Amino acid sequence: MQHVKRTLVTTALPYANGPVHLGHLAGVYLPADIYVRYKRMKGEDVIHIGGSDEHGVPITITAEKEGISPQDVVDRYHRMNSEAFRKCGISFDYYGRTSSQGHHDTAKEFFLEIEKKGIFRRKTEKQFFDATAGRFLSDRYVTGTCPICGNLEANGDQCEQCGTHLSPTELLNPKSKLSDAIPELRETMHWYFPLGRFQKALEEYVDLHDLQKIFTENFEKEQYSVWRPNVVNYTRTWLKQGLNDRAITRDLSWGIELPISDPEACGKVLYVWFDAVLGYISFTRQWAVETGDESLWRAYWQDPESRIVNFIGKDNVVFHTLMFPAILMAWNEGREHGIYNLADNVPASEFMNFEGRKFSKSRNYAVYLGEFLEKFPADTLRYSIAMNYPENKDTDFSWQDFQNRTNGELADTLGNFIKRSIDFTNARFDGVVPFDCPRDVMRDFTVLLSYDTGAEIDELGDRVTLDDLIDEIGQAYDCFHFREAVSKTMDIARRANRFLTQNEPWKQIKTDRDTAAKIMSVSLNLCNSLSLLFYPIIPETCNKIRSMLGCQTIEQLREELKSGESIWEMAKNPSLSKGHKLKGTSEILFTKIEDKDIEPELKKIEQLLAEAEKREAGAAVEHTIFKPVIGFDEFQKVDLRAATVISAEKVQKAAKLLKLLLKVGTETRQVLAGIAQHYSPEEMVGKQVVLVANLAERTIRGEVSQGMILAVEGADGRLCVVEPVGDEINGQQIQ
Ligand code: 2FM
Ligand code: ZN
Repeated sequence: MQHVKRTLVTTALPYANGPVHLGHLAGVYLPADIYVRYKRMKGEDVIHIGGSDEHGVPITITAEKEGISPQDVVDRYHRMNSEAFRKCGISFDYYGRTSSQGHHDTAKEFFLEIEKKGIFRRKTEKQFFDATAGRFLSDRYVTGTCPICGNLEANGDQCEQCGTHLSPTELLNPKSKLSDAIPELRETMHWYFPLGRFQKALEEYVDLHDLQKIFTENFEKEQYSVWRPNVVNYTRTWLKQGLNDRAITRDLSWGIELPISDPEACGKVLYVWFDAVLGYISFTRQWAVETGDESLWRAYWQDPESRIVNFIGKDNVVFHTLMFPAILMAWNEGREHGIYNLADNVPASEFMNFEGRKFSKSRNYAVYLGEFLEKFPADTLRYSIAMNYPENKDTDFSWQDFQNRTNGELADTLGNFIKRSIDFTNARFDGVVPFDCPRDVMRDFTVLLSYDTGAEIDELGDRVTLDDLIDEIGQAYDCFHFREAVSKTMDIARRANRFLTQNEPWKQIKTDRDTAAKIMSVSLNLCNSLSLLFYPIIPETCNKIRSMLGCQTIEQLREELKSGESIWEMAKNPSLSKGHKLKGTSEILFTKIEDKDIEPELKKIEQLLAEAEKREAGAAVEHTIFKPVIGFDEFQKVDLRAATVISAEKVQKAAKLLKLLLKVGTETRQVLAGIAQHYSPEEMVGKQVVLVANLAERTIRGEVSQGMILAVEGADGRLCVVEPVGDEINGQQIQ
């Protein structure tokens, strides 16, 4: 593996607008922490930078709802989240805040540099304005009827019911969330970042990390620099569509003010995403100041031999693979010094669901990290979550799984092995390692299982060495395969436990004390190795094990070792030699979780699910409340026609939409229908449908829709297109 001088690990900055939940932990913070702890053990130079994202409209909405200031909101959640992370053992080197002066300065510096280079474009566009509140409304402040599914409470940026991404002007009957007033369109000027200008450079950047390209173009790349397929795919979808200008300012009062004395900049702040990604830089700077060497941040950002890894969730991909790199490219343009590195890898997770459903803050369907840690220890959570890491597909966290893993794997396997080894040594060998464990014996699990005792080799006794397993685990960490690494680590504990059980030192000691001593020397050294190998996953427990073994904590070990020396590699060797004194006492490492411990949690879920069902049933009842009566004449105005689908295709960036071409008599019509999740384009071609033929034309996601087709929703949520049956009915009026 190529030598990496240093690694900067960043984790997506959570909005300081609510408590972080287990889904956040699973996708971003835990894997990053495991990765960083592993690298530190290897003696590598690595820092972990994170912090709170303290701008953005939702924060101002919370503040307005609660009648407090946005600063109060972010103070509350910054404190809450940094405390929850601390309790969970997420070892940030720095946890910053985007409301800090240092961050504002960095963001302004970037804005000014790009402005000075003339890269931004100023454009005037029409945007909704709430005359009652006297404010321009950003997307989320506008609500209205979804043009696709008819949801009466769609947001200006997205309809939560059908998932379609919208722009506020696409909403029917738009309304201001601030005052309920009907907003008017007014012109406003904004700064736009021309993403398109960097299209080619971004494509080249992505190519370098895309396995397929690396393969076909013969690029030299380390495995750890290869992006996951989901990251490449999301990014390519955007690149294929062609990158457009993106507004990077907003008409708001909460955020970073534009650092120019231009009347046009008055009342505007930087768009939250423009400033948030720069938080990684400003926080590294703040970290450097704290270390006493304020220029140290440059080594991580600007030395070409350094490496940057951004841990994120899948909903943040393009901001990290396109937007942020483009901002850095704009900064780097024409420079000879102070050039920023782009991220080498952006491990984006899929989502971890909770008891089969998506976490939802708005519906309070979540387990919040801080609350969880008041009831259960951090390490049991870290282990269960790491085993459920959503690497390539969404996974599920359930209380049952948490209980099973804690009891079966942590308590019965790891905890049991450690405690039996230590207790037996304390009881029968005065708490002293009784023999020098031969290196070869400890390394070879085949020998291990039958070590001097003739115990039978069973299915775990395949020819695998501890060294190999440790290398495989390391490689898995290096390439972000966390589940594989963690389950292989537990595999070692399983083998160790089996070794002890099969060799029965408690029986041997009655007739052959020497053999029992040998067995214990192997067991105790395996305890030591496990205390190292499990450290990235369950650090607190590992230090407890080390204390019982009479060994230094990992942190003390790190301080003593010279930089570059690997604690990780030490797990391969027996380092507790004959005569080493254990602490002499032991403690239970994992308390088993009883059914009664999780019962209240299961009840809570039942309650939440019942509430959700009620809500859904309520929604169904609403459907049967008929709309106000209309006269026959009014009804007659609607021109319903039988039409035939000639072609159908998906609409880019609109997962719910199909673009249909319809034949209606002698005419052809293009209609956008929100049915893409219920029908494939192929299924639609040839179908006879009912077209509302005289509906005013609308533009949705840049495509014209000339009418709509009728569909009905079934109880299971599936949409069924209404299909008139009959011969040669095309173009006929439906009456
Ligand atoms: O999705 C979010 O929670 C954002 N606050 C993530 C920001 S990541 C980075 F850019 F700061
Ligand atoms: Zn909708």
